[in-house]
Amino acid sequence: MPHPDRLKEVISRGLILGIETSCDETAAAVVERGSRTLASVVSSQIDTHARYGGVVPELASREHLRAIVPVVRAALAQAGVALHDLDAVAVTSGPGLAGALLVGIAYAKALAFARRLPLIAVNHLEGHIHAVLLNERSAAGAPTRFDEEPSLALVVSGGHTHLYLARPAHGSWTYALVGRTLDDAAGEAYDKVAKLLGLGYPGGPWIDSLARFGDPFAVPFSFAQIKRKVHLAGKTARTKAARTAPIAKLDPHFLFSFSGIKTAVLRYVELHAMRAEADARAVRLFGAQGASWHDRSVSNSASANMRPPIPQSREQALSLCSQPTLDLIASFQHAVIGDLMKKTFAAAQAVGAARLLITGGVAANRELRQRYTPEAARRGLGIAFPTLALSTDNAAMIAAAAWPRLLAQQFAPPDLTADPSLALGV
Ligand code: KG4
Ligand code: ZN
Repeated sequence: MPHPDRLKEVISRGLILGIETSCDETAAAVVERGSRTLASVVSSQIDTHARYGGVVPELASREHLRAIVPVVRAALAQAGVALHDLDAVAVTSGPGLAGALLVGIAYAKALAFARRLPLIAVNHLEGHIHAVLLNERSAAGAPTRFDEEPSLALVVSGGHTHLYLARPAHGSWTYALVGRTLDDAAGEAYDKVAKLLGLGYPGGPWIDSLARFGDPFAVPFSFAQIKRKVHLAGKTARTKAARTAPIAKLDPHFLFSFSGIKTAVLRYVELHAMRAEADARAVRLFGAQGASWHDRSVSNSASANMRPPIPQSREQALSLCSQPTLDLIASFQHAVIGDLMKKTFAAAQAVGAARLLITGGVAANRELRQRYTPEAARRGLGIAFPTLALSTDNAAMIAAAAWPRLLAQQFAPPDLTADPSLALGV
C-alpha cells in the first residue's frame, strides 16, 4: 500500500500496467486514470490453437510463458513509460484457464513486489464491462453518463453470455447478475458451428464475414423459452464459466441456452447432405490433414499429431461455400443475435436500465451492432460497444477496471492466486 504522501501523487498520475492471460491472448497495456490508453499490446495464440480447432490449455500456458516478458516490454516501450513511472500493476485473477491465469499472476506479483507497487486483482468479466467505459471516456475526454447511471451489461464471449446490472457508486462499481447461459456461451456456439462447417478457429469472425452472403430467413432456427420447471429445480449451470448465483434465483426469461442450436445446425447439415461439402472445404482451407482435424473436431477431440496448417483467407472460404451453406450460416447468426436481443431488451426493461453496454468477443460482430443499435434507439435506450480491438481479450480493459480499485485502495492480498471460476457480483 502506498504511503499517504505518495498516494496523492499516484492518484493524480494514475498510470496502471494491466496484464491479461486468462485464455489464449497474452496482453499488456498502460492506461492513465482509467481513461487514456497509452499502449495496448495483444499477442494472439490463434495460430497455435487453430491447428486443434480450439484452445489447448497446456499450450496456452506455455505460450503465455514465452510471450509475457516481450509483451510487457513492448507495452511499456509503446507508452514511453519506464517501470519506475508506474503507480500500480493490475492482473486478471479469473475466471479463465488456471494455468494461463497463473502465468500473468506470478509475473504481476513479482513485478509489484520488486518495484514496491500496489497489485490489483481484476475479474475478467468486469474487465470486459470496463472496455466499454474506457472507450466512452476516451472518446468524450471525460467521464460520461455511463459512469453516472446504472447500465445493463451483456458480456458475450467465448466463455460467457451473462447479463449484469452494473451500478456506479462514488467512483466504484457493483454488479448484480440478471441472466446467464445454462450451457454453452454464444461465442462457443459460433466456434463449434464454424468447426462443423469446416471453417477456421475462432469461428466468430469467419461466420461474421460469410453471413452477409446468405439469406438469414432460409432456415427457421428457434430458441425455446427456458422452462420454469428446469429453472426452479435449482440445477447448477453446465458451463465452465464463472461461478454465479444459483440459476433458481434468476428470472427464466433472462436465461440463455446455446447448446441446442449447435445440435440443430449439425442435424441440418446431415439431413441436407452438406457434410461432404464441409469436409472438402476443410481440406481446401487447411490442407490434406484438415479433413481428419475437421472430422474429429465434431466430437471435440484434439490430438497432437493432427496439425492442419493455418487457413489461407476468408475470401477463399466464401468461394468454397454453396448458397445453402451461406444461407445456413446467415440463419444461424440471425437466430443467435435475435435471441441475445430479445433477452437483453426484456432484462433492461425489467431492471429499469436506461443504458446498455454490449461487450466481449461476440460484440465485435457486425450484424449484432447493426441490429442492436436501431432497436436501442427505438426504445430510447443509450447503447455503447467497445472498439473492435477492445471487444476481444485485451489488457487495457484490465487496467481501466483497476482504476476505481486504486482510488478505493482495494489491493490484492500477497497470496493472490488464480480462481478459474471467479464470480462477478451477486
Ligand atoms: O472475449 P473473447 O476474446 O474471449 C473470451 O473471453 O472468451 O471472445 C472470444 C469469442 C470467440 O468465441 C469468438 O468466436 C468470438 O468471441 N468472436 C466473434 C467475433 N469475433 C470474435 N463472434 C461473432 N462475431 C465476431 N466478429
Ligand atoms: Zn474475454
